[in-house]
Amino acid sequence: MASDFRIAVLGSGKGSNFVSVADACAAGKSPAQVGLVLSDVATAGILDRARERNIPARFIAPGQFRTKLDPQAEEAFIEALRGARVDLVALAGFMRVLKGDFLRAFEGRIVNIHPSLLPSFPGLEAWKQALNHGVKLTGCTVHFVDAGVDSGPIIAQQSVPVLDNDTPETLHQRIQTAEHELYPKCVAAIARGQIAVNGRRVIWGN
Ligand code: GAR
Repeated sequence: MASDFRIAVLGSGKGSNFVSVADACAAGKSPAQVGLVLSDVATAGILDRARERNIPARFIAPGQFRTKLDPQAEEAFIEALRGARVDLVALAGFMRVLKGDFLRAFEGRIVNIHPSLLPSFPGLEAWKQALNHGVKLTGCTVHFVDAGVDSGPIIAQQSVPVLDNDTPETLHQRIQTAEHELYPKCVAAIARGQIAVNGRRVIWGN
């Protein structure tokens, strides 16, 4: 059943989290639909995964900076998202920090998935940070996006053990398996209106 709750997914990489969210929607497990995919990387797999599913997918050039969008690019992202009338912006491996205008345009309506148990290991390659630190437990976090790096109110977390013989690749793979369970559940709960935010605390209602 098609739903009126519209999600846009932004990603820079292969798009496995997009696939988990989009396929949960298509299977009726989430009362939502992915209406748009945007990427700052022209060759990103996420664009191909979206087109295979007949979901509109666009590359928007990010501009001159390495870790954020330049003002014109930011405007182009905002326009595309407004044009698609999205209720929720879900970041899935989008490797640029979002700034003021973008955050204001979609206040309280941007979520992200991060491959660690925040607030441990924000930033890049969190699975490598976890391995190098020697923690025995890591995982993934879905959170609302604020102006900091991986710092907004936490919606849900799933833990994953770190094994003695893990490499960065095997650990990231195990974390991704957890991500593919957690992200669709969180998106479904938001689409159903079950999630309330009270300061830093996110409450799951019925
Ligand atoms: C995911 O593991 C996601 O948690 C991570 O990028 C990967 C994207 O994979 N995001 C970050 O590190 C953001 N700080 P995917 O393209 O297969 O969904």
